[in-house]
Amino acid sequence: MKNSLGKIMIVDDDRFIRMALGEALRSWNYETVEADSVATARKVFADEEPAVMLLDIDLPDGSGLDVLTEIKESNPDTIAVMITGNVDIGNTVSALRGGAHDFIGKPVRLEELRVTLRNALETRDLRRQVKQARDEKARGFKFDEIIGESAAMAEAMELARRVAVSDVGSILLNGETGTGKDLFARAIHYASERVEAPYLAINCAALPANLIESELFGYEKGAFTDAKQRKEGLFEQATGGTIFLDEIGEMEIALQAKLLRVLEEGAFRRVGGLKDIPLNARIVAASNRDLKKESEAGNFRLDLFFRLSIIQVDIPPLRDRGDDVLLLAQHYIDRANVKRRGKQLKGLTPEVSRIFKHYRWSGNVRELRNVIERASILEDGEMVTSAHLPADMLSGVPESSGETATFVLPPNGVALETVEFELSKQAYERTGGNLTRAAKLLDISRDQLRYKLRKAGYAAATED
Ligand SMILES: Nc1ncnc2c1ncn2[C@@H]1O[C@H](COP(=O)(O)OP(=O)(O)O)[C@@H](O)[C@H]1O
Ligand SMILES: [Mg+2]
Repeated sequence: MKNSLGKIMIVDDDRFIRMALGEALRSWNYETVEADSVATARKVFADEEPAVMLLDIDLPDGSGLDVLTEIKESNPDTIAVMITGNVDIGNTVSALRGGAHDFIGKPVRLEELRVTLRNALETRDLRRQVKQARDEKARGFKFDEIIGESAAMAEAMELARRVAVSDVGSILLNGETGTGKDLFARAIHYASERVEAPYLAINCAALPANLIESELFGYEKGAFTDAKQRKEGLFEQATGGTIFLDEIGEMEIALQAKLLRVLEEGAFRRVGGLKDIPLNARIVAASNRDLKKESEAGNFRLDLFFRLSIIQVDIPPLRDRGDDVLLLAQHYIDRANVKRRGKQLKGLTPEVSRIFKHYRWSGNVRELRNVIERASILEDGEMVTSAHLPADMLSGVPESSGETATFVLPPNGVALETVEFELSKQAYERTGGNLTRAAKLLDISRDQLRYKLRKAGYAAATED
């Protein structure tokens, strides 16, 4: 048999109508389930989760319109087609208000029903595709957008690319804060075969454990006081796609045990539910802590760590990425220029480049981004100078390896004027071209400095 086109629930108290419709629908390749009252419709819907319901209005224990509004409220994607012998304006209006897709009079003309169903399902699929395309565009993260040419980054990206296209079910991303774990997780999703299905993220540090549990697993109506109706969790919503579990190190131990079971069994249950639902989403977990150490210290389940770390991608800290820091700085400078039209920053002074390459960057790329954003606001010149870097970046940076920094006379001597000029220029650059402050650094007067710079032919200083 060909793949079913979808599951349809026929709700009618007339057995013969259910039989006739059921037979026709199955011959068109739909699966069918039946209900003969409001009460059974509720139950069958809950058990079978059909894509479409055909609803009679006059039912022995109530109105099909009630079934319509109730189910559409909790499952807005469900398509409802009303079928009734009693077509009056009032019913039609309430049905359309309640979210019915169409209204068909009895006796049902089968061709009309067939076309109606086909259109309804096509519209739904189209909507889903449009939404997916829109979401993708909004998020559109790909490996190409990850900046970095260092060996350390190349290695991490190569591994991530390979696991992205593989069929592994879970991946662990390890890296300090701001190293790009979010970015990698999305890139892995968009490079995988799962790209057409959702990418959903949850931060384990941001919510209390019971909320994370119900977000992930979903729940059945009545599972707890506020569970007024069934809710699908991320494991279901992300079917075919990827779930990003950020800061998994913060997940409560009891929930870690449940997650491990899901990974091992490939199935889960909604909170308060009895049905095993197969897991068909890839789990990408991220941590900025060393989970192995955390497990040894008893803060993380060792068995879950082993399960997750079968495929672990280590994202290197920015300070280990060599010149990538300069590439990233330039990227954020270009971006700042776009945002702040009018001002045009070109790059970093040599001094700032040196500082950037030696700085610790404990906040990694995120910190770098903030530093450039700040400089782009404060800087009036064309270059990012050290004058507008946060003060703590300037301490602890080794001096330039150039001759002038240590004031050791080169073996063959040096022209004193050259040294003077070099230091004047550095002072001038460090202060962003502020003559007064630059002169202070050299303990000479503003005029003296200007004179020295001019004499050395340093054009920039003659402007003011
Ligand atoms: N290699 C990179 N290239 C471009 N942008 C990056 C890179 N790494 C990180 N970013 C950016 O830096 C910021 C922090 O990255 P994020 O993925 O949120 O880090 P984490 O999740 O590890 O804390 C984000 O704005 C991200 O887009
Ligand atoms: Mg993050």
